[in-house]
Amino acid sequence: DIERDEQIYNSYEKLTSQLPILHDWPPFNPQQYQSFWIPAKFLPACMAIQSHFNPRSSDILCVGSPKTGSTWLKALSFAVLHRHSFSLSDHPLLTNNPHKCVPFLELLFSHRTIPDLNVLPSPTIFATHLTASLLPQSALSCRIVYVCRDPKDTFVSLWHFTERLRVSLSTEDKSERLDLNKAFQLFSQGISPGGSFWDHALGYWKESKRRPEKVLFLKYEEMIEDPVIHLRKLAEFMGCPFSMEEERDGVVEDIVKLCSFDNLTELEVNKDNNGSFEETRLPASSFFRKGKVGDWVNYLSMEMAEKLDAITKEKLHGSGLSF
Ligand code: A3P
Repeated sequence: DIERDEQIYNSYEKLTSQLPILHDWPPFNPQQYQSFWIPAKFLPACMAIQSHFNPRSSDILCVGSPKTGSTWLKALSFAVLHRHSFSLSDHPLLTNNPHKCVPFLELLFSHRTIPDLNVLPSPTIFATHLTASLLPQSALSCRIVYVCRDPKDTFVSLWHFTERLRVSLSTEDKSERLDLNKAFQLFSQGISPGGSFWDHALGYWKESKRRPEKVLFLKYEEMIEDPVIHLRKLAEFMGCPFSMEEERDGVVEDIVKLCSFDNLTELEVNKDNNGSFEETRLPASSFFRKGKVGDWVNYLSMEMAEKLDAITKEKLHGSGLSF
């Protein structure tokens, strides 16, 4: 129903034009909506998801704040769910960026049309950066895997990604380089794409405590430390645990290897020259930088690190979540 969709999106655009917008974090230009900062480009899509995303309870959501490891989580979830359909030597992840294998809701809903997602196979894995508070009720009945990461590394990764995105834009859309200190100030105040970072994490953390069978809360650092254990956990949570035979045959290790930073970055499909991600000119390689824990030491002063740690401590106090 093209006319109905036109009306829906027109009304969202009207709404978004009245919301506060911050031009200090280009090219995201986050807008404040229901106490979170959403990149302006995706805000109408977020509203559409809130009202019109109606997943089946079998569907799975991969969620995280930007730059917390969602590319990795997508690859792992996709490889786990579809492990009986593809052999490792002829796997879609060898010829597709993980973002192509797991559709991103904000993009699916950003074409001024409400997509019919029920035509997709069941279960389908969807990715989103939306907060728990912004998800529609029906999405809360899906299994949700949330990945979180130390805010210092998340911030550094986000700052680099912002620059990659800026460079990829055409000259007329290009803004000035975002100063690290300026970005740091904003991030610390909770103003960043998808922010506040802490409220984003807390929303899913609380859901995972309340309904552990529906929300799995993962930490990037712990996954790096022991990917095999976390892959087993992920498979169990997704309702497709590894069998004894699979364990014996080393399937768990094989999937970890397939999705590893080193393996994915070596693939032609994820290299720089393989540009143009979705409608941006962002190369697929932008989603891979270092893939390390603690790279913040190369960018943040001790004072900055202490400041972020103090905010983290204060924000997460009493929740049981820490970094
Ligand atoms: P760095 O910038 O610190 O390297 P997202 O996928 O949510 O956008 O997060 C991106 C971060 O995850 C980047 O961190 C990126 O390098 C890292 N990453 C991407 N793929 C990964 C993988 N397979 N294993 C570990 N880290 C990965």
